Amino acid sequence: MYRFYLVFFTFLFFVLFCAKVDSRIVQETSAFEVVEPPSDFHLSSLCPSGWKKKNEYCVINYQYVNSLEKNGGLGQSLPNVELDPKIIDLGRYLFFDPILSGDQQLSCAHCHHPAYSLSDGMKQSIGKNGVGYGPNRKDGVVLKRSAPSLWNVVYMKHLFWEGRASNLEDQAEGPLYSPDEMGSSPEIIESRLNDNSFYQKMFREAYGLKGQRISAKLVVDALTSFEKSLVSFSSRFDKWSTGDKNALSKEELFGYNVFRSFVARCAECHPPPMFTNNVFATIGVLDSGERDYGRETITGQNLLRGSFRVPTLRNITKTAPYMHAGNLETLEEVVQFYNEGGGRGNGAPSDLRIHWHVRKMGLSQNEITSLISFLNTLTDESSMPKFPKSVPSGLPVAIELESYQHRSSKQ
Ligand code: HEC
Ligand code: HEC
Repeated sequence: MYRFYLVFFTFLFFVLFCAKVDSRIVQETSAFEVVEPPSDFHLSSLCPSGWKKKNEYCVINYQYVNSLEKNGGLGQSLPNVELDPKIIDLGRYLFFDPILSGDQQLSCAHCHHPAYSLSDGMKQSIGKNGVGYGPNRKDGVVLKRSAPSLWNVVYMKHLFWEGRASNLEDQAEGPLYSPDEMGSSPEIIESRLNDNSFYQKMFREAYGLKGQRISAKLVVDALTSFEKSLVSFSSRFDKWSTGDKNALSKEELFGYNVFRSFVARCAECHPPPMFTNNVFATIGVLDSGERDYGRETITGQNLLRGSFRVPTLRNITKTAPYMHAGNLETLEEVVQFYNEGGGRGNGAPSDLRIHWHVRKMGLSQNEITSLISFLNTLTDESSMPKFPKSVPSGLPVAIELESYQHRSSKQ
């Protein structure tokens, strides 16, 4: 069976140490478990945390989901998601396995890492030819934007900052086949996985393949099943909204009132329970380099210039730095930015149509501090995936200290 390793503390020290040396962003890292997979990579038929078994499938099992769906919540049922536990488990191995990238050095987890709450702690992610993972990744192609975390992506109506994909299947082809990111192709993926006896067996187990070859389509299907399992609905805020009135302190509750007030208006765009209304808005975040025209590049409407999908605020204290450009390092900076009127008060280009809810707010220091305390109550990482200590390809995963070095040692 599984043997569990808790490497978190050593890892935390290492990360903080490296982050200091590199003078990159230092933030509190998230706890996660590293597990030794079964020697034959037998797939688990257990549902991950947050899910329960119903007729062989996994369905969401959050204690607080009913209240999310009812009064004060969505006012409607969450879309019914049924996932096959073996396919989720297969997707987990693929997510952590660099075998999918052209040069076999980069996995999804390098940029969506459990220690950084499924993001990477960087302003802008580093793709192809980079070394290392999380905020210590360096030397490769610098991507245009910051990596979003993957919490509750199953409920997002548009994916990517400017919403260029409308489902996870189309989304996954972005990083996999982009030459600046994983630089792979369906042919590469298919030939490698069909040559790997573990993956042959795992795909047979998960999909009942009988003699058929593993297709890139199935790879994407498994990856997206895994991503759909990454839900977060058991925060202290959820406890409070189900009726546990002691779950939030007085200050946090005051912060929630600031959040939904007509002065701050945060809840207009970031309404509970998702803390996003899933639409596009222009708030006027400044780009550090080349201008990012956001949603306009998809629809051609200049009204949407510089607009982005409203991001969720769940686990927000864990996913600094913030915004599409990663240019705001802390929640203090974010609230300050809004308090000054967003782009209006921060010199955004005059051709942006900044949303009318984003105006100078004049929040007091006390209101700002309470608002940030409230954002702290949206943390729930209980569905954090288990990090496999090794993957079927045998390639180094984004946890081993030597994977910081492995590219250079090969050359
Ligand atoms: C080099 C770093 C990197 C790698 C590797 C990477 N991503 Fe991403 N990911 C990003 C960045 C950056 C974005 C935002 C890009 C944008 O909006 O233009 C993103 C966006 C996403 C999104 C959209 C989330 C949202 O809320 O809109 C999903 C889902 C995702 N990635 C999943 C994956 C999967 C699955 C893999 C592996 C097949 C992967 N990523 C590999 C950096 C990476
Ligand atoms: C008009 C809609 C709107 C309002 C009002 C609004 N936001 Fe946002 N928020 C957005 C959009 C859009 C983004 C992404 C912008 C970007 O990346 O350029 C965002 C980004 C954020 C982020 C960064 C999320 C991340 O993952 O990087 C935080 C934190 C945030 N908002 C908090 C707040 C708070 C607190 C308030 C109230 C003071 C607020 N927002 C009001 C639309 C809004």
